[in-house]
Amino acid sequence: MKSEGINREFLDGVLTGAHPDVYYHFGVSSEDPLLEGLRDVRAVIMAGSGGRIKEFADRWSRLNGGSEVIAFPKEDRFVTRYTAGVLFASHGMGMPSASIAVQELMRMVYLLKRGDLDALDQVFWARVGTSGGVGLPGGTIVVSSEGLMPDLKPYRLIQGGRGSYWFDGTFPEPTREAILRANDGSGLSIVSGKTVATNEFFLEQFRLDGAIRMETEETKGEFLAWLHENGVRNIEMEGAMLAAYLNSWGFPSFAMICAVLLNRLEGDQVTSTPEQLHTFSEDSGDVLFNYLQSLLLPAGEQ
Ligand code: URA
Repeated sequence: MKSEGINREFLDGVLTGAHPDVYYHFGVSSEDPLLEGLRDVRAVIMAGSGGRIKEFADRWSRLNGGSEVIAFPKEDRFVTRYTAGVLFASHGMGMPSASIAVQELMRMVYLLKRGDLDALDQVFWARVGTSGGVGLPGGTIVVSSEGLMPDLKPYRLIQGGRGSYWFDGTFPEPTREAILRANDGSGLSIVSGKTVATNEFFLEQFRLDGAIRMETEETKGEFLAWLHENGVRNIEMEGAMLAAYLNSWGFPSFAMICAVLLNRLEGDQVTSTPEQLHTFSEDSGDVLFNYLQSLLLPAGEQ
């Protein structure tokens, strides 16, 4: 961990009891007895939708002999569950929403690990999501190597008090390799590549089917070809920020696993059937669970 990246000025006061921390969007505070049950957290798994989080938590509980699933009381923003060492939380859509979830979860994990940097090092983070493929057919799973914004530069916030704040969008290679290894022989189509995260589904992803249209077939084709030439394999709406914030604290182990819903070189609309979408979603979940099991479940229990 990088101690200098952590807002210890605020967070250490929470540890000493000088003041509480309210994780407002999750509906709990540092003084909530519910959090006591989460001290053994070893992984934080995020996904866009609350339904997916509930399914993941139930699946992890079944793999852990029916372990108790703790549900957070507030669900109007994010849906949160904890079971058997894994905290599952939804983050909504896009970086403005997901950045709230990520920052509050980082603060929560700091509290749970009592600010112990070695213990924080042990926590694995992942987002499992959906994306548009760049030259990849629907159903492919992309494990991201780097998260970038649509100009192929890393995540940054424009014009803070000290100008622009730039972040590192790299996803740690050893974790990525370990995920690929854990899925060896799974038969799933998994690739690794750069991911572009946009702040808009239509215009920033150069779609021609929005209510508003700024691009032409030609500029869209040029943009997607440029992404592809630069190693980008999918486009979604959270990854650049996720990698940026986790790197700023120096977490050594995190990943993003996204199912491709469509090949953007062939179209803009998501026309897959509900059955196909279900399979895509199951497959990306399988990639995560194959890794989680190798990480957290002793060999005999898998
Ligand atoms: N999510 C996105 O952000 N873009 C797509 O094309 C599909 C899913």
